[in-house]
Amino acid sequence: MINIKTKSPEETIEFAEKVGKLLQGGDVVAYKGGLGAGKTTFTRGLALGIGLPDEVFSPTFALVNEYRGKGVTLYHFDMYRIMNAESLETTGFYDYLSDESVVACEWSENIEEYLPVKHITITIKHCGENEREITVEGDERFDAAWN
Ligand SMILES: Nc1ncnc2c1ncn2[C@@H]1O[C@H](COP(=O)(O)OP(=O)(O)O)[C@@H](O)[C@H]1O
Ligand SMILES: [Mg+2]
Repeated sequence: MINIKTKSPEETIEFAEKVGKLLQGGDVVAYKGGLGAGKTTFTRGLALGIGLPDEVFSPTFALVNEYRGKGVTLYHFDMYRIMNAESLETTGFYDYLSDESVVACEWSENIEEYLPVKHITITIKHCGENEREITVEGDERFDAAWN
């Protein structure tokens, strides 16, 4: 498990970029943390780390945004309105999981029991206006890189 504190959005993006560099096709990232925690901000850094050129926007209205690069494709979900297996099914969530994609999910709390067993949990806690506590758990690859 990695546990760090950031003091600005830029610091969160910088940390997320390092995490993104360690991601590979097939990874599922499940965010926990309420509104304004920094999940979308973190995903900006993830995309940079994965090597994706596009600017990341909140998928709140689209449910899922797609960022395609030369390597893996990032699918960025917002599960805020997803409350049961049926509504999850209609998002096509399972069709996006593949060895060529990284799937990152905001509001993963809502679909916890439907997530693939193997996933990376990123918890972002609001500690102050510009302070966040971020933990990354679920895969040893990150621990090795940070120790
Ligand atoms: N240390 C920090 N890390 C991330 N975001 C921060 C931080 N400090 C302040 N912020 C601000 O908090 C907000 C987070 O928004 P956003 O990433 O959209 O959150 P979420 O997707 O979790 O709702 C942004 O306005 C961002 O600038
Ligand atoms: Mg968001």
